Amino acid sequence: MADAAVTYDPYSYEIDEDPYPTYARMRDEAPLYYNEALDFYALTRFADNLAAFVDRDAYTSTWATSLEFMDQPHPDSGLMIWMDPPAHNRYRGLVSKAFTPRRISELESRIRAIAAGHLDPLVGRDRFDVVKEFTARLPMDVISEMLGIPEADRRWVQEGSNAMLHRDPGSPLPPPETIAKQQEVLAYFDEQVALRRARPRDDMMTLLTQVEWADEDGTVSRLSDADIRQFLILLATAGNETVTKLLATAYYELWRNPDERALLNADPALARNAVEELLRFDPPSQYQGRVTTRDVELHGQVVPKHSRVLLINGASGRDERKYASPDRFDVRREIDVHLGLGYGRHLCLGASLARLESRIAIEELLARFPDYEIPADGIERMHSSNVRGLSGLVLEPAQP
Ligand code: HEM
Repeated sequence: MADAAVTYDPYSYEIDEDPYPTYARMRDEAPLYYNEALDFYALTRFADNLAAFVDRDAYTSTWATSLEFMDQPHPDSGLMIWMDPPAHNRYRGLVSKAFTPRRISELESRIRAIAAGHLDPLVGRDRFDVVKEFTARLPMDVISEMLGIPEADRRWVQEGSNAMLHRDPGSPLPPPETIAKQQEVLAYFDEQVALRRARPRDDMMTLLTQVEWADEDGTVSRLSDADIRQFLILLATAGNETVTKLLATAYYELWRNPDERALLNADPALARNAVEELLRFDPPSQYQGRVTTRDVELHGQVVPKHSRVLLINGASGRDERKYASPDRFDVRREIDVHLGLGYGRHLCLGASLARLESRIAIEELLARFPDYEIPADGIERMHSSNVRGLSGLVLEPAQP
């Protein structure tokens, strides 16, 4: 009897546990996958996703990029991640001025100090949840510090933005209390921006009120309050949960692969490459949604205009057509390119920051806890349509 056709449902908790065998079947058996019940297509092979990411006119982001929101265009979202050119060029040109790699690299010593502030109190404990005590705190502390969000408000803003990503079982849309929380966080950001406009400070939020960008015909524009608010909300989600999850995956994989951990302990400089391997092997952002702007031919079939297509970068990282032994986690692997931070015009704006924070967090944790166990009941997975990772991970450090 022939095997049943492969099925992929991004909301399934079962898929969240381990999507990779399903992705392997999709790459082999259905490189252009179609889910009739949920009415979406999916691409899983590396070459197909790379081509789609750089296609200049066949796909739009304006119908949102996460399946649950992709039923209609969202032209007024104000979120750059849901924009196409020319609006996206203008917005990206503006915020990039506040987000330069040089500005980010200047943060290294502060990030190290923030990491130490969370990790030092854990030294000597028999066990701790590394997500709750460390990885969930670090990225928001870094973003908050960079933006200038006062310390007293950070935890609250972080809880509000984390809640936005949570989905109850069986319901793809956020629950009402989450939407209310989001409104509170937005109102808070408005207040903070108004304070900066009245009295500029030495922080990125102030810089966002000042940056200017000239388009091709010389028209100069600035960010409005609404532009800044939407950017802040994007940072609080895109830049927070993703790093939290990548780091949890890092400590989990370094436990499952003690030889790889030993390599890092012997040569901490390998942490830089380990971050790239993690983004290939098990990226926190598993797919980027797009909608076709015209009929598109893929694998001999026509995908009609206005179809929803998921570019599953999580599957592309395991494509044996691109990577040798792709299911092996190898911190020394030479990777020329991966799609873990996206590709093309929406390539992660926070890529330098994500890489820097993740490298430092791996170095600093292993410097204090070179050897640890994870108990069988210490692993808790989060559920979301496109963010994959652990919401709890208990480490039991080997005592000296
Ligand atoms: C490991 C951590 C991270 C991962 C895996 C990740 C992943 C991604 C991916 C895949 C995209 C492309 C989305 C698309 O094509 O539709 C993206 C875009 C973006 N990311 Fe990240 N990200 C991470 C960290 C960060 C951080 C730390 C920040 C900022 C603080 C950030 C801010 C953004 C923004 C603003 C965009 C939208 C860019 C645009 O639309 O032009 N991300 N990210």
